[in-house]
Amino acid sequence: MTVVGARPQFVKIAPLSRALRRHVREILVHTGQHYDRDMSDAFFAELRIPRPDIHLGVGSGSHGRMTALILERLEAAMLARKPDVVIVIGDTNSTLAAALSAAKLQIPVAHVEAGLRSFDMRMPEEINRRIADHVSALLLCPTTDAVRNLRAEGITKGVHLVGDVMMDAVLQNLARVRRLRSPTAHAPKSYYLATIHRQENVDDEGRLRAILGVLQGASRPVLLPMHPRTRERLRRLRITLGGAIEILPPQPYLGMLRLLGDARGLLTDSGGLQKEAFIVGTPCLTMRDATEWVETLRGGANRLVGADAAKIARGLGAIEKLPRHRPASSLYGGGRASGRIARLVSRFARGR
Ligand code: UD1
Repeated sequence: MTVVGARPQFVKIAPLSRALRRHVREILVHTGQHYDRDMSDAFFAELRIPRPDIHLGVGSGSHGRMTALILERLEAAMLARKPDVVIVIGDTNSTLAAALSAAKLQIPVAHVEAGLRSFDMRMPEEINRRIADHVSALLLCPTTDAVRNLRAEGITKGVHLVGDVMMDAVLQNLARVRRLRSPTAHAPKSYYLATIHRQENVDDEGRLRAILGVLQGASRPVLLPMHPRTRERLRRLRITLGGAIEILPPQPYLGMLRLLGDARGLLTDSGGLQKEAFIVGTPCLTMRDATEWVETLRGGANRLVGADAAKIARGLGAIEKLPRHRPASSLYGGGRASGRIARLVSRFARGR
């Protein structure tokens, strides 16, 4: 049983589900954490993800409520369907709830993206990924740093370095992205791409205003696909955006990769986009105080600038001078992570 619920998990389940179905029978569960068409269904259609076998329909809510609803509904689904292994991905509330549900029922958990750490416990994602790792039987790590992080926490059994499923997704879709008409009329390299949605930025008015202030004053257009959480927050705070910022609706996967590949630089607080920028060779400023994708920082392709207006402005200056680094197709397992995971999971299930 694989469990997904939020946008980044839809991207990752696309290659994973395809690989899994060559080896095992997959029961795909959608928790309903993300439900807007452009946050959910659009990804299933574009990435040809199989229709979920079970939809829990939990919707939005506080962390406690969302986690509790998933726990309750997923427990019932697991008791009814009796999966041999439950596969969880990443670090969202859906990840945490699914890992807990399975562990409590003594069903082995396989965690995809195990071992990542930002060492910042103010981030809900850090709590989710730590707990998921500590109840997992199979820890499927994207990087050697992740393996090392687990070892430092005493976790060595069931740990496998498999590479990153998001790399698989990028490689499997590059040709389609190249054929796509760009979602913007701006010429390649003439604009920045930006996203802001993390709780620590969006829910903190000071940080949010500092970030938006710099983006509005940028020397090039800043294309900002708007996450629903951010849109809601701006409405509440009565903030209207202007200056260099151009608001776009949430973008589908291929369109976003196209915008990213053509951008002069990326400014983001997303985990996945930092890595995608690194993969396609676009310089990135990460508007967070810590990142779990530390390998992107080495060599300066990605810089941590927090929500500090001066650091962000300096970072933009640096991007203008930075030569584009070459995209590396051998990174993160070179596109073979999903196949490795599928084989490990199937071998594990047969061995029980
Ligand atoms: C979640 C993940 C985050 C991930 C992000 C990707 C957690 C704790 N966070 O954050 O790690 O980077 O997904 O997008 O799981 N909303 C809608 N429509 C939707 C989805 C959300 O309007 O389809 C709005 C609702 O007002 C909701 C808010 O966005 O309350 C936040 O959604 P939520 O799923 O709680 O967290 P994200 O910020 O999306």
